[in-house]
Amino acid sequence: MAAPRHGAFHSLTVAAVDRLTDDSVALTLSVPAELREEYRHAPGQHLAMRRQGAERGEVRRTYSICSPAPAAGGHGPAELRVGVRLVEGGEFSTYAHKEVTPGDVLDVMVPAGRFVLDPAAAPEGGHYAAIVGGSGITPLLSIVSTLLAARPDARFCLVRSDRTAASTMFLEEVADLKDRYPERFQLVTVLSREEQEAGLPSGRLDEERLTGLLPALLPVGSVAGWFLCGPYGLVQGAERALRGLGVDRDRIHEEIFHVDNAPAPAPAAASVSSSHSRVTARLDGRSGTWPVQDGESLLDAVLRNRADAPYACKGGVCGTCRAFVVRGEVRMDRNYALEEHETEAGFVLACQSHPESEEVEIDFDR
Ligand code: FES
Repeated sequence: MAAPRHGAFHSLTVAAVDRLTDDSVALTLSVPAELREEYRHAPGQHLAMRRQGAERGEVRRTYSICSPAPAAGGHGPAELRVGVRLVEGGEFSTYAHKEVTPGDVLDVMVPAGRFVLDPAAAPEGGHYAAIVGGSGITPLLSIVSTLLAARPDARFCLVRSDRTAASTMFLEEVADLKDRYPERFQLVTVLSREEQEAGLPSGRLDEERLTGLLPALLPVGSVAGWFLCGPYGLVQGAERALRGLGVDRDRIHEEIFHVDNAPAPAPAAASVSSSHSRVTARLDGRSGTWPVQDGESLLDAVLRNRADAPYACKGGVCGTCRAFVVRGEVRMDRNYALEEHETEAGFVLACQSHPESEEVEIDFDR
């Protein structure tokens, strides 16, 4: 069978729409038998969806898969489930909430993303932990359920924060995990705007609070991997707390869902005018060379010529547009998706990259 095409879209039928809270739903998508290998996913990956918007043309949004990943060696998934939280003014999330019903067909990209935990790679007796906020629970649901089912020796501590119990996504699913794995799954819930009968006092989960809380919950230094997911502020605060507690950067994995409060990208240094630059891009085994217009990202330059170039957010968040720089110099505006070892190895986000040399060559296939 041919390798799945990078960034390919297929039509998938909605099997179910479950309301989770007032402002979130879970969509279950049926995967036909002939596409199951293409939608084989690792726990923690996401799906981009696209539709023609009424005003802004094509709209793409990325949603994390919450269903467990299929076992290695078995069949690809017959169904995929994603969580969608309503974003104010969000064209796709409003559509998912108000219009999508079972039987509808959605245009869905094959799974992508490197915020993953491969159970086969977990060390013997591996102890993992996550700190998530709001809809950041979605990929962790897949990560935790897949790990604990595949590895009876593994343990997981999940620290989740939300505003109130009523606004908390996947309450039942997380409670089911607690029932199924009482000895190996530790759950800590912090509500920022509501007192809980049992549990921690209300308030925001920030750096200071986490610095005090985490050592009381688990042996911080022996955790094999930390997974941080949610809004920018929470993920940054959690990373600072962990670094302050002596956790190595390479044990921390991050996925940011909103970047509203993120610092603006640094202004561009004086560089080669992009009007003199050309980009050569390799995608699905085929290469082409095209001019880059002034101010244009490498992704947009490629997209003008190859409509199948992979992207979802165009905001430096989802990582779908990751490419390897084979030759030349590029500057990235912002990066909330690639880890340090990836940028050091030469990967960039094409949606955030601009040429700094006259010739740039990038490879989407690596
Ligand atoms: S398209 Fe999402 S990071 Fe580039």
